[in-house]
Amino acid sequence: MRENPRLRWHFGIRLLHWLTVIALAAQIAIAFGPMNGPGMATMNWLPLHMSIGVTILAIIVLRLCWRIFTQPPVRPTTRSVRFATAFFHVSLYVMILAVLITGWLGYRPKPFMPAARLFGNLPVPLAPSVGALSARAFAFVHEKLVWILLGFVGVHVLAALVHFLVLRDGVMRTMFFGRPDIASREEQAQLAVGDEAGCSRDRP
Ligand code: HEM
Ligand code: HEM
Repeated sequence: MRENPRLRWHFGIRLLHWLTVIALAAQIAIAFGPMNGPGMATMNWLPLHMSIGVTILAIIVLRLCWRIFTQPPVRPTTRSVRFATAFFHVSLYVMILAVLITGWLGYRPKPFMPAARLFGNLPVPLAPSVGALSARAFAFVHEKLVWILLGFVGVHVLAALVHFLVLRDGVMRTMFFGRPDIASREEQAQLAVGDEAGCSRDRP
């Protein structure tokens, strides 16, 4: 039986979601780990930090484009829960984009640093000067925004865990891979019956 795509996020969205998680975790580990070290540590690690950041930007842009053409999983929820979920997910996208853009605006390689290149290959354009703020000021804002993003991600992960461990309502399963389990097959059957009867259900 073919999996009903409306029970899970589209495969591409799931793949890009977990790639975002992996890349963001690597970025945070480097930024708060070796890049935060003494002496020239920041300068030495900055090219890799920038390259991972540009990769995250590419993943997010691809994900947003893909999102326009995909339907979220079908779930029976109230209008207010649906709105709150959508609002929070949009906030996550806005925050991660804000971190990426301020990082780019704050990136100014020093004369002794290598030219800005993606993993040492493709040239990355440097940001133009914007308004009265210096690159140093944007880097400062960037570092502060990272903490806000981490707060948002923390709430998001907590909510996912509550769904998974307490509510056990299948929300976590919509982002997972692997074969659909028995419960989701039953849900598929219910959706198929709903479709045949011409019923419409709330979309989250
Ligand atoms: C989601 C992606 C990103 C995260 C989570 C992130 C995180 C961080 C963190 C935690 C710091 C502070 C490091 C420290 O205390 O030494 C930092 C600094 C910085 N980041 Fe990012 N960053 C991201 C993307 C980028 C991008 C795309 C660029 C550039 C194109 C960039 C450029 C910078 C710069 C210039 C600094 C300041 C380094 C300094 O102290 O001189 N970041 N970033
Ligand atoms: C271990 C960490 C994470 C877990 C367990 C997790 C889990 C989930 C789950 C279960 C959903 C589906 C929610 C629903 O259908 O209502 C979801 C959606 C989403 N997650 Fe995460 N997530 C994690 C990390 C992240 C990170 C780091 C970001 C980005 C900063 C993120 C951004 C999103 C967004 C934007 C959605 C909505 C789907 C979309 O529009 O692409 N998540 N996540």
